[in-house]
Amino acid sequence: MYTTEQQRKFVEQSRQLLEVPTATDSAGAENQAAQLRQILIYHEWRYSVKNDPVISDFEYDHLYKKLEALEAAFPLLIVPDSPTQRVSNDLSGYGASVTHLVPMLSLANSYNAEDLKDFDTSIRKLLNVDEDYPIAYCVEPKYDGGSLALVYENDLLVRGATRGNGSEGEDISANVKSMRSIPVRAAFSKTNIHKVELRGEAVIRKDRFEEMNKERAKAGQQLFANPRNTATGGLRTKDPKETAVRNIEAFVYQLGYAVDQDGNDKMGQFESHDAGIELLGNLGFKIPTKERKVCKTIKEVSDFCAKWEREREDYEYEIDGMVIKVNDLVLQERCGYTSHHPRWAIAYKFKAKQATSKLVNVDFQIGKIGAITPVAKIEPVQLAGVTVSSISLHNQDFITERDIKIGDTVLVERAGDVIPYIVKAMDELRDGSETDIQFPENCPSCATPLIRLEEEAAWRCPNYHCEAQLVQRMIHHVSKDAMDIDGFGRSYVERFHKLGWLKSIADVYSLDYDEIADLEGFGDRSATNLRMAVEKAKKQPLHRFLYSLSIHHLGRKVSKLLAAEIKHAMDLKDWTEEQFTDIKDVGPVVAKNVTAFFRDEENISLIRQLEENGVNVQQTEKDIPQVADANAPLIGKTILFTGSLNINRKEAQQMAEKAGAKNVSGVSSKLNILVAGEKAGSKLKKAQALGTVEVWTEEEFLERISG
Ligand code: IVH
Repeated sequence: MYTTEQQRKFVEQSRQLLEVPTATDSAGAENQAAQLRQILIYHEWRYSVKNDPVISDFEYDHLYKKLEALEAAFPLLIVPDSPTQRVSNDLSGYGASVTHLVPMLSLANSYNAEDLKDFDTSIRKLLNVDEDYPIAYCVEPKYDGGSLALVYENDLLVRGATRGNGSEGEDISANVKSMRSIPVRAAFSKTNIHKVELRGEAVIRKDRFEEMNKERAKAGQQLFANPRNTATGGLRTKDPKETAVRNIEAFVYQLGYAVDQDGNDKMGQFESHDAGIELLGNLGFKIPTKERKVCKTIKEVSDFCAKWEREREDYEYEIDGMVIKVNDLVLQERCGYTSHHPRWAIAYKFKAKQATSKLVNVDFQIGKIGAITPVAKIEPVQLAGVTVSSISLHNQDFITERDIKIGDTVLVERAGDVIPYIVKAMDELRDGSETDIQFPENCPSCATPLIRLEEEAAWRCPNYHCEAQLVQRMIHHVSKDAMDIDGFGRSYVERFHKLGWLKSIADVYSLDYDEIADLEGFGDRSATNLRMAVEKAKKQPLHRFLYSLSIHHLGRKVSKLLAAEIKHAMDLKDWTEEQFTDIKDVGPVVAKNVTAFFRDEENISLIRQLEENGVNVQQTEKDIPQVADANAPLIGKTILFTGSLNINRKEAQQMAEKAGAKNVSGVSSKLNILVAGEKAGSKLKKAQALGTVEVWTEEEFLERISG
């Protein structure tokens, strides 16, 4: 689109124009206005198409205002493709029905590699070619936004419309013009195209969507449901300014129609779909780049689709699948169309992240420190490949705010690795048989009246000896992050507890393995394995032991800080709250809780019992923090890992720590080193923009720490 030289020139001119006074004579004004237009269009492209601005928003606004001022003083300088003309109040024709130059068809769907193979077979049949005939497919994201049809005539954007029913859409030219990722002027005439219709999708970046919702929440406005609705809604507002504010962007994914001055077809000049898209990119449109691939085989197609299905959460925009198109335009025409979709293309739909289900019942679970969590039991549904049948409702406020009732149809979502959650209850589907969720007043396990502390969202069972809590504490005790007893999970704890073998955490270490071997499903071998795992756990370092006690707010980090300070768990018995808070990063809340725990005689006797059963409660070498020496290669540096790495991220962080660095979680002026793996996104951009952060590859990192 722009050569390096041009870019350098525009950046330099931007600096100069920011400095010089706005011209007052007509010749000077004309000159400045012409420069400003070019420069602003360039910055719009950097910002909206490349997502990589080279000047600040503030500087852009300053230049924009300068052009506005010039045009106000010399109205003759105003041209229709001036950046200042993007947002206008001219709504003539807005909302009118317009006929697309060629119908906007839909797509057939596929859901797995098998379907894609069938698609390939059907294409070969249509083309009457055998399996060995090379057919290239262009694969690109299926954007989840609102479809758009853009018409350019004489290089100028003359119309923007929604898809509508496929043959007729709604005129939204004024809104489309306000979208900075859509060029108002594009040099189609260079390729002899006089009139052209493009197809694209209006989308909004996920981070921009979240930012907007935060702003709306602050202003007390209703929140947008998802990026898709924000984009489609923004396309159709009667206020082009609103479209601009929402920062809606458009990807173009299809050249639909192109003719020259005499109305002769000009599509024939493109060798392939991919070449057409590439041209659009060169003309300044936003196109899929790294997300687009020409594949030589259908296997390559399904691998690329699978890759994007895995990585969709990390992508800046919402996509609900991929679109596969026969790349060769001549072959496309030979395949033809149905009335519904082109035969040469197919959508590969990702597994649904959202589904509706019926809320059948609510259970109340008791946590290890007594918090009561309502859990919705729903009719099982498939979400992104996993069957979901119970979902946390978090707390009473969550239920009240969302007005969720038993018997409701609920919209459920599971995004990436995130735990499934209820987006909303669909109250429009109620038939009156729904009932309110009754929050219990007493603990469902021990019947103690529940309490709710002022600053907490959860209701709690205050009875420390509540059996349900005890079971949860035992599950926590044996878990991976605590004593890490291999194979000893929730189901064993619940089973042994039911059998009366686990009355206290100390019993974990005095089980009768002969009895266990006799249990159904066990046998000598499993019993021996379990015994060995328990024996191994007895030697765990003190910090794991402290963490395993389920003291409210005592997490792994503070457990480590405490274990570093004491020789024996029992030392904490005599500590005052101040002694705790004297340690950096230990706050008053955890200080209070740990003090209270060690003031309780029953807890003291539990620790004694555990020690008697052979559990280590003394400081070990692993509890003493490794102090990196002053010569460590990364001493005093802060570091952050981003993108996908070959080494495990946790391991990388430990290596960095050993080398003297401190791991931080965000990019700021305090960050020294950013290790960027593949597909590093916004963090890398931010670091580069700061200009003070060293950016390393994973290899460089490994080299530096070994050096
Ligand atoms: S091609 C003639 N490509 O998906 C070709 N469509 O049912 C027809 N969509 O609402 C469409 N990304 O707006 C195509 N890369 C892409 C797309 C895409 C999103 C949307 C399109 C339409 C639906 C097709």
